[in-house]
Amino acid sequence: MRTIATGRGNGMTTGATALEAPERAVLDFREAMASFPSGVTLVTTTDAQGRRWGFTATSFCSLSATPPLVLVCLAKDARCHPAFLAAESWAIHVLPEDRTDLAMVFASRDADKFAAADFTVGRRGDPVLADASVVLECAQAARYDGGDHTILVGRVEDIDLRESEPAVYFKRGFHRITHSGGN
Ligand SMILES: Cc1cc2nc3c(=O)[nH]c(=O)nc-3n(C[C@H](O)[C@H](O)[C@H](O)COP(=O)(O)O)c2cc1C
Repeated sequence: MRTIATGRGNGMTTGATALEAPERAVLDFREAMASFPSGVTLVTTTDAQGRRWGFTATSFCSLSATPPLVLVCLAKDARCHPAFLAAESWAIHVLPEDRTDLAMVFASRDADKFAAADFTVGRRGDPVLADASVVLECAQAARYDGGDHTILVGRVEDIDLRESEPAVYFKRGFHRITHSGGN
């Protein structure tokens, strides 16, 4: 096991090995985050001009049950950042294991993202992916600064739970859930 020092005064440096360079700390941080398995989501919205925006996100997580809140973190340098900062609502889709191709499309700046799958229009006017495992339609509840990301907090207003198994993202690759066969 290797202990990583991430910086000054953050309480995480006890027993840490010395860092060769700040870049090394960034790489170690990314490696540690890649070691945490998660689902994969597409987050979509429509701006005031009717243009659709979306990005792939693994930073999605549950925040509160009462009220029902979720959060997702969006890089400030994303092209879609201004649209999500202004958005009053957005839709979060858990990707099924057979649509991980969409994760790569929605992570590509130059892709024609919404041509890659069938989208309908949700209750709040946002694009809703027909093939998602779960759809959460959210109203904008709060936005917080999060370093080089903005934390978008959404109040869940509509939930669509479907049957398909979700994809798992781990160590920069997509995985299927395998069931152990027990009960
Ligand atoms: C598996 C995966 C997970 C990602 N998770 C996030 C995330 O949580 N937040 C984020 O800002 N970008 C994330 N990205 C990168 C964005 O999806 C990508 O930079 C996207 O193109 C940004 O939107 P833009 O095309 O409008 O710039 C992820 C990419 C991949 C492939």
